[in-house]
This record gives sequence, C-alpha cells and structure tokens, in this order.
Amino acid sequence: MKLLVVGGGGREHAIIRSLKKNPDVETIYALPGNGGIAADATCVNISATDIERIVDFAVENRIDYAVVAPDDPLVLGCVDALEAKGIPCFGPKANAAIIEGSKAFSKNLMKKYGIPTAAYEIFTELPAALAYLDTAPIPTVVKADGLALGKGVIIAQTREEAKQAVTDMMANAKFGKSGSTVVIEEFLTGPEVSVLAFTDGRVVRPMVSSMDHKRAGDGDTGLNTGGMGTIAPNPYYTDEIAKQCMKEIFLPTIRAMKKEGRTFRGCLYFGLMLTPQGPKVIEYNCRFGDPETQVVLPLLKSDLLTIMMACTNGTLAKTPVRFSKKHACCVIKASNGYPESYKKGYRLTMSKQAAAHTFVAGAKLENGALVTSGGRVTGTTAVRSTLAEAIVAAYRFSAGVKFRNAYSRSDIGQRALAAKK
Ligand code: AMP
Ligand code: GLY
Repeated sequence: MKLLVVGGGGREHAIIRSLKKNPDVETIYALPGNGGIAADATCVNISATDIERIVDFAVENRIDYAVVAPDDPLVLGCVDALEAKGIPCFGPKANAAIIEGSKAFSKNLMKKYGIPTAAYEIFTELPAALAYLDTAPIPTVVKADGLALGKGVIIAQTREEAKQAVTDMMANAKFGKSGSTVVIEEFLTGPEVSVLAFTDGRVVRPMVSSMDHKRAGDGDTGLNTGGMGTIAPNPYYTDEIAKQCMKEIFLPTIRAMKKEGRTFRGCLYFGLMLTPQGPKVIEYNCRFGDPETQVVLPLLKSDLLTIMMACTNGTLAKTPVRFSKKHACCVIKASNGYPESYKKGYRLTMSKQAAAHTFVAGAKLENGALVTSGGRVTGTTAVRSTLAEAIVAAYRFSAGVKFRNAYSRSDIGQRALAAKK
C-alpha cells in the first residue's frame, strides 16, 4: 500500500514509525515531513495547509490511504477534499474538526448535551466582555475562539489582566480572526490528563492515558509551550475515573457529534481536568496530541494502520485496540528561547541508540546533514516496565541528541512519580 501522511512534526514521525510496522505498507509519503522523518518516509515539499496540492499529489501518486494529522488541514477540509477524489482518509471532516476549530462550538455542544466542562460565557463584542469581567470570579480563563497554535488561552489572575487579554484578542487582533470571538470561562483546578481516542463515529476506543508538561520550565514554571515532555499512562487516571469518563464524556461526545450531523471519525483528543467535582473537559482536539503521540503509540500493541482503517470504515467495534502494560516517557529537546524567539540552523547529531528512540520535530536536511529548524527539535521516548525506569532511560537516550542551544526540562515525569507514591 502507498500511504500519505500530512504534517511534519514529532507526532507525524511517531505515526509514521508505527504505520511502517504493517508489512503491507510499501511507501509512505510525508507532506511536508522534515529532515528526521526523511529517514522513515519520502518527504515531499508540500505544505500541510496547501489542500489543493495535497489532493493533486495524492491523485497523481495513486495513494491508497491518507492520514491527516495536524489541526489546520483538518479544519480546512483536507479530508473532505481527499475523499471527494476517492482517497480514504484517517481524520475528521471539516464539519467535525470544528470541535477543535471553534471553542464556542465545543462549549455550546457540551452545554447542550450535559457534558461536564467549565462554566462559560461567549462574547463577540468587546464592551460586553469587559462589562462581564467587572464581576466575573477571579482567576478567570480567556480563550480565543479559533486555532491559535496553543497560545490562545490566558489564565488571568486579576481583572486587569483578563481585560487586557480580551482587548488584545478582540480589539488588537492578537490572534487574527481566531480572537474575534472569545470564551471566558471558570478557572478549574486538579490534575490534567490527556486521553486520545480512536473513533469511527459510533464506537470509541480510548488509548492509554498520558500527561503533558506544557510549561517551558522545571516545576511547571514559565510560558506555555506546545509540550515539553510526556509520560504514559497517567497515574491520576484510575480505572474508576476511566469508566466515569467513558460514560459521562467520551460516549456522550461521540453521540452528540453524530446527532448534530457532524459524525467524528479519527482521533479525538480529550483534554481533561480531574476536578474535586469530577472529570471535566478543558478542551477537545480533533487530532493526535503532540507530544502525547510520542508516548502513546510506542505502547500500542495492535496494528495502527488496521485500527485507522477501521475508524474510516466504521468497523472499530470488531477491531482489537490493545496497549502494553508498560510505561513510556518522552523528553523534548527544544531550541533555547522557545516558545518565544530562538536561533536555529545548528547542526543536529544523534548517536545510533538515540536516533532509534527519537522522533524529530524541528530539523531539516542541509547537504545531507540535519540542522535545527524549529522550536521543539526532538522528542526522545523510552518504554520500560516502570515509570521510574522509563524516565531514566528517556533522559539517557536524549543525552545522545546534540545541538547547540538545546534545552530540556529536567523533571519530566517527576510529578507523576510523586503521585504514584
Ligand atoms: P488549552 O490550550 O485549551 O489546552 O489550554 C492550555 C492550558 O490552560 C490547559 O492545559 C490548562 O492547563 C489551562 N486551562 C485551560 N482552561 C482552563 C480552565 N478552565 N481552568 C484552569 N486551567 C485551564
Ligand atoms: N500537547 C497538547 C496538544 O497536542 O494539543
């Protein structure tokens, strides 16, 4: 089979490595892929948001199956466009990807179907938002409605900060059109859990749970990033909580989307907070998480391509989705200065052992050599019988990944380890 994977980060590298395990896979094209992915797939320099060229490429190259991994092409209708040409895809159509593409949509969906989430108000006019903030409980959370590269969420500790955030979004267009509508919501507390789930629109099969580390600095300090490391499974996510989430959140969400005429097929990411009042949805993503995928897929024992095709074909009910009982840890190496400004273009080298455990996110090939080209550069994953061992091994492998100006958090997994005790 000839496969196409849209995207070019660490998540896509992890997906491609798992897809390659299927013996029927002859070729995988990555659009655009990256310098590291080039070791595992044929990279083609077509942007992940250039839907027209992606479709042309897929038709010309007689692609048998396509995986659309990032949020923007999904929201832009990449799956719709490929399927219109008869190419089966993994990923939701645009009318279902809106569950991530519009926070106003997802909040209203949850309210309508009684799915637990933070209380909220939606605003399309700045004066009304500012007036609401005069009396809103503080701290409060301000969110841009649309996609904002994970940066459109402000936790405001004061009224002034909250007002500044809505002004930046609504009057100063800080996130472009994404911020012309804002959601202001209740501040929740509790451990966070990421649960990615396969779904064919009817059946939902959660993957092993994981924990992201979103802040740039040790001890969860500093700016929010795309994620500086992950562990799986998440020790806070007990079997009992998993059952409750299935009943109160996962199935109701899948059924709600179907009922709205927006059947969701693909990977639905539930960002959950385990509050004292029970699990609540912080966010939905219409795709695999990054870097959650880098710990979840290495624990998948069943065949990824078979599961993905079952999601497309509506046969997930009879397709096994099994995970190892082991533990995984992924440590990100980023360019110093990320998530703000950083230098790139530094030579990236990996020992043989490091390369075997590393998913490349931000590097390109220049004259046959890897050079850094992004904020998050690599994610190195180890799988071991215990979490403590997985952490030690991930850091040991990661030490074999070298480039100038590199930085990692040194405490990935430590909070999870403490929670286990
Ligand atoms: P998001 O981009 O929606 O994942 O939000 C980024 C981060 O902001 C989340 O991972 C949470 O840590 C935090 N967050 C979002 N919404 C809330 C909320 N209602 N209460 C507390 N923290 C939140
Ligand atoms: N790691 C968070 C996300 O993928 O949205």
